[in-house]
Amino acid sequence: MTPKVLALHYLLTLTITLIHSFSSAESHSFATKSSRAAIGLKEEKITHLHFYMHDVFGGPKATAIPVTKVLDNNTFYGGLYMADDPLTLGPRRDSKPVGNGRGTYAFPSPKDFVLEMNYNLGFTHGDYNGSSLCLLGRIAPTSIVNEMAIVGGTGVFRFASGYAVAKRVVLDFKAQLVVREFNVYVSHY
Ligand SMILES: *[C@@H]1O[C@H](CO)[C@@H](O)[C@H](O)[C@H]1NC(C)=O
Ligand SMILES: *[C@@H]1O[C@H](CO)[C@@H](O)[C@H](O)[C@H]1NC(C)=O
Repeated sequence: MTPKVLALHYLLTLTITLIHSFSSAESHSFATKSSRAAIGLKEEKITHLHFYMHDVFGGPKATAIPVTKVLDNNTFYGGLYMADDPLTLGPRRDSKPVGNGRGTYAFPSPKDFVLEMNYNLGFTHGDYNGSSLCLLGRIAPTSIVNEMAIVGGTGVFRFASGYAVAKRVVLDFKAQLVVREFNVYVSHY
């Protein structure tokens, strides 16, 4: 073959290969069957997490700040807060840190004084360092105990589901501080 024919041959082969690889990429389905074993997950287990969440709702050291104007001073309707709350092992603020709770607190009802939490619990402690849980739920601020759903997770908490019971153990208007004791029961692999 002359160099010209060779070059043509090469170009043709390349084109066919490219078309072939594109079409085979196309033929991969968007969704295929998998299994827990295929992604390295083993036995389902339930983990109990116990920690304290510190929420400072005002002042220079606020951990939750308002980003909207409240439309009703009784229900806090329209209020939306961005929160970055420390999570600690014990009830004191200087107790060992285990992570942070980040997300939003919203007051969605013009009728009732209720608060919706859309929150990520990010852990920075031991085996749980880098893993997170997604918490979604409602708090009646006048109740001492509230329960919320754990709707998912990452890291060691992949496929997580469960619930969190938050008990208010400190409400200090002077320090603008709420401390909640969390007991989280989470099923994961
Ligand atoms: C809520 O209270 C604040 C402070 O007393 C006041 O400035 C504001 O106008 C009130 N808001 C409404 C919607 O009543
Ligand atoms: C958690 O992981 C981060 C990132 O890998 C690391 O920098 C940090 O030291 C770890 N913290 C603990 C308490 O192990």
